[in-house]
Amino acid sequence: MRLHIREMLSAQREGHISFHTPGHKRCGDDITELSYSDCLLSPKGAILGAERDIAHILGADRSFILTDGSTSGIFSMLYALKVRGAASLAFPVCSHRSVYNACRVLGLTPVLIPQNSERGIPLQPELSAIEAAVREADALLLTSPDYYGFLAPMSEAKEICRTHVKPFLIDGAHGAHLHFTDMHAGKFADMWVDGMHKSLPAMTQGAVVSAREDWAALSEGVRTFRTTSPSYPIMASVEEAAKWPRNEKIERAAAQFKEAFGAVKNDDWTKILIFFGRHADEAQRVLEAHNVYPEFNDGNYLMFYLSPCTKEAELQTLGALLGELPRGEEGDVKEGKIPIYSEGI
Ligand SMILES: Cc1ncc(COP(=O)(O)O)c(C=O)c1O
Repeated sequence: MRLHIREMLSAQREGHISFHTPGHKRCGDDITELSYSDCLLSPKGAILGAERDIAHILGADRSFILTDGSTSGIFSMLYALKVRGAASLAFPVCSHRSVYNACRVLGLTPVLIPQNSERGIPLQPELSAIEAAVREADALLLTSPDYYGFLAPMSEAKEICRTHVKPFLIDGAHGAHLHFTDMHAGKFADMWVDGMHKSLPAMTQGAVVSAREDWAALSEGVRTFRTTSPSYPIMASVEEAAKWPRNEKIERAAAQFKEAFGAVKNDDWTKILIFFGRHADEAQRVLEAHNVYPEFNDGNYLMFYLSPCTKEAELQTLGALLGELPRGEEGDVKEGKIPIYSEGI
């Protein structure tokens, strides 16, 4: 498939003399908005071509490339809700801090949906709790998949929102790699974000926010919260990531790995959760001494974050080390607030 932004950058790279920002003057692909390079705020050329392709892939009527993370997508979606008259938003307690922050900045009242936890892992909210919150609020936001690799009950939530005629939003910061599956947010939500940099090979901060049908307010939100100096390397990488095919070989290897090492049975192949209990810090130290870095250690679990670019040999290295490490036992679970989700961080 054509890579609009990368092709546009490559065509102009040779002999480029920079009398423009950025100040490093070395250029490469890190240029600014020039006569030939289109403009993210009002795209008409290569960027528009990329955004149209991305929307087609994600099942959206309109997709916007973001170079400031899913955070700016969440602010933009909540801005769109507000502009369309919403005064409150229902979302699970363990939502990302950007959801809390955007509500505070935009004056939306949070209607918190309780979540239970099991062995130290927050569970997706129950349908009855979702429905009760949707009755009370003007819109619903769920996170799918969550950081622990569990999908939200998206199809049921969509139905609840349809019944109550309320918009349904999905924080897909951890779900961009599901873009060619039936589990992708775009199959269910009215507006959603894809964190292209987390589970697909986009550069850090690369993300996309998308909407179905009524996207004018989202466009206004994006123009309000996005930077006016977007990074072309990030934009190009977002387009490439959105077009990145599934790697079914590594998906299968991940499933076998989870089975072999007794990982938590979650829904998402990119998130391997291994319980270490009181040995979690020691396990992290040993792994890092071997140059193996997990995504997080929450005091109970180490989480190993995969993507279509993970190599089978790297999984084998991890497996060889895990075999040598002490593992947690029943009764080791530390319950409590999960720091990575904490609203106050
Ligand atoms: C569930 C969730 N939503 C949103 C975000 C924000 O994403 P970004 O860091 O790309 O702004 C994160 C970041 O970790 C996240 O975990």
